[in-house]
Amino acid sequence: MSTHSLIVGGTRGIGRELARIFREQDHTVSVIGRRAPVAADQSQAGVHFWITDLADAAALAAALEEIVQRHGRVNNVVFFQRYRGEGDKWAGEVATSLTATKNVIELLTDQFAETGVKSIVMVGSIASDHIAGEQPVGYHVAKAGLHQMACYYAVTLGPKGIRVNCVSPCTTVKDENKDFYAKADALVNVFKKTIPLGRMGTAVESANVIAFLCSPQASFVTGQQITVDGGVSLLSQESLARKIAGV
Ligand SMILES: NC(=O)c1ccc[n+]([C@@H]2O[C@H](COP(=O)([O-])OP(=O)(O)OC[C@H]3O[C@@H](n4cnc5c(N)ncnc54)[C@H](OP(=O)(O)O)[C@@H]3O)[C@@H](O)[C@H]2O)c1
Repeated sequence: MSTHSLIVGGTRGIGRELARIFREQDHTVSVIGRRAPVAADQSQAGVHFWITDLADAAALAAALEEIVQRHGRVNNVVFFQRYRGEGDKWAGEVATSLTATKNVIELLTDQFAETGVKSIVMVGSIASDHIAGEQPVGYHVAKAGLHQMACYYAVTLGPKGIRVNCVSPCTTVKDENKDFYAKADALVNVFKKTIPLGRMGTAVESANVIAFLCSPQASFVTGQQITVDGGVSLLSQESLARKIAGV
């Protein structure tokens, strides 16, 4: 029986990269997204899409039931979704990031495979610990909440053998924004000066860390937050200011 991995929010960005990596590893991949995947992804063997708004609890429950019926119990569940709607950002972030994650976990707790890996990964952000002025307050609170949710479920689902971790990227280059950053020399040059590894990270680099947490190699890792940011969050504001000013 192949490993069955569910990617919530896997139609775009980092989640889409993870779907590709899981397919390379021969997983059966179920993907939930709000909008249809890009045309090139629609007919990949072994990748199955469910277009469902996570805010619709009844539709979500029906989709999860169908996913398990069609493709079997799950080994991995990874959460990428964040609120991208036009409505109230606070309510949207709480519903999309926190409530939907909790609902999916509670609906699937007894639907994990009996053998093989059992892993949940939540995708956070360095905004769980730092303030990103370009993001709303709800984003910060939701990301901080996800980290604590990962710790809570690591403890309560540990006896079932389910590991739960959180991966927190910084600003990431992905297919959808690579043209923007290719032209944003002023910003990219500051990133190069201030990120200890001297460059921006990519979607595949975050996806690789998540794939590790979903592998047997991570069999004793649970309740952890792994930051994928090239070291930028280690620097003090004063040090960043000096690097930018070149003094
Ligand atoms: N990209 C970065 O620079 C960066 C930095 C730090 C942290 N992160 C975190 O990493 C995660 C992924 O980021 P990303 O930029 O790769 O993601 P993204 O492009 O925003 O994609 C998010 C995914 O979640 C789905 N989704 C969102 N709302 C949904 C809903 N209500 N129902 C069903 N699906 C929904 C999206 O589907 P639709 O496209 O159809 O809505 C999409 O597949 C996010 O949690 C983000 O906060 C990203």
